[in-house]
Amino acid sequence: MNLLVTGGCGFIGTNFIRYLLNKSDFSGRIINVDQLTYAGNPENLTDIEKTFSNRYTFIQADICDKKKMTAIFDDHDIDTVCHFAAESHVDRSIVSPDNFIKTNIMGTFALLEIAKNRKNRLTRFHHISTDEVYGSLGKDGYFVETTPYQPSSPYSASKASSDHLVRAYHTTYNLPVTLSNCSNNYGPYQFPEKLIPLMILNAVEGNPLPVYGDGKNIRDWLYVDDHCNAIWEIIQHGKDGQTYNVGGDCELENIKLVEMICDAIDNRIKSSDGKSRELITFVKDRPGHDQRYAIDATKIKTELDWTPKTSIETGLKQTVKWYLDHMEWVNHVRSGEYQSWIKKQYK
Ligand code: NAD
Ligand code: TYD
Repeated sequence: MNLLVTGGCGFIGTNFIRYLLNKSDFSGRIINVDQLTYAGNPENLTDIEKTFSNRYTFIQADICDKKKMTAIFDDHDIDTVCHFAAESHVDRSIVSPDNFIKTNIMGTFALLEIAKNRKNRLTRFHHISTDEVYGSLGKDGYFVETTPYQPSSPYSASKASSDHLVRAYHTTYNLPVTLSNCSNNYGPYQFPEKLIPLMILNAVEGNPLPVYGDGKNIRDWLYVDDHCNAIWEIIQHGKDGQTYNVGGDCELENIKLVEMICDAIDNRIKSSDGKSRELITFVKDRPGHDQRYAIDATKIKTELDWTPKTSIETGLKQTVKWYLDHMEWVNHVRSGEYQSWIKKQYK
């Protein structure tokens, strides 16, 4: 397998590359293409580059650059695509949506066009998407693969658009696509603007923990390794043209999750003095904030025998430990472009 991974220097892409190359039954090559935006950090894979020098290649490129991407497909004889590259943070999409439209829609379109032109060579084009395309749930019910799309934010609207394009390339050109729509991931290497790493680091540093609105919004938390395992099952055994919802069976109100993070920090760090919960600060709500996400993952469970294995207690413990052990990584990713974003946010 000559596998093109896009966005492999971001959170999930990094975890996926590490997961796959360390699997004893994977003998293929990975070509990781990443533009290295503020969210991409090539240091995530420095050790992988050394250990798997003959099976791992990193190329800095923009997926919207069709000429460069075509050359990459040709030079590396790509037969499989796993497409993660995206602008991924809802709050950023509210403030400046332009790059979301460009990368998430136009970038996916560029990749589909190249894949279409090499259809005979390609065995799988897997597109990673989000449960946010379905919009917000009320108190009851779950997202299934046939739930109508009703995206609320520029981010989710751009992902919805890319999903439609991917499906259209199957229906119209018979491209062997699969899609997965997953719930909120957490774990190592997540950029510390997302809820869980942001709260861990703010609690460690004694800074306020900003909870939007009343904190009663619900998300379904999926440990990133479980997600990587699901993606690999779909790439190998998924049916052409099919979508699989992937969730953690772990619905939590934001406030409850933040309290769990506080307790996990207090258990590890004596200097927090058992007082992390006192840092919780309710702030102005996000505009268009979806109330509840919850995935029904019956399809992938029954068809591909996948199930999430990591409990939130274990996953959070591992995640808190990872961030505390990797403060140098944190300082690196929080320098540079992130600083000007923060200034813009709080000016
Ligand atoms: P991330 O923001 O951590 O990483 C995105 C990566 O894409 C970065 O390395 C960035 O440099 C790269 N990138 C951005 N624009 C690019 C471009 N034009 N060309 C090449 N590379 C580019 O995101 P993530 O959390 O790892 O998410 C990966 C995928 O999973 C995304 O498609 C996202 O929509 C989807 N997803 C994420 C979650 C989640 O909880 N994190 C949940 C559901 C779906
Ligand atoms: P986030 O990690 O941004 O993921 P998403 O918006 O894609 O679900 O946020 C998860 C939840 O946490 C969401 O309901 C918004 C909320 N949230 C806060 O309350 N405070 C914060 O500082 C952030 C970043 C998010």
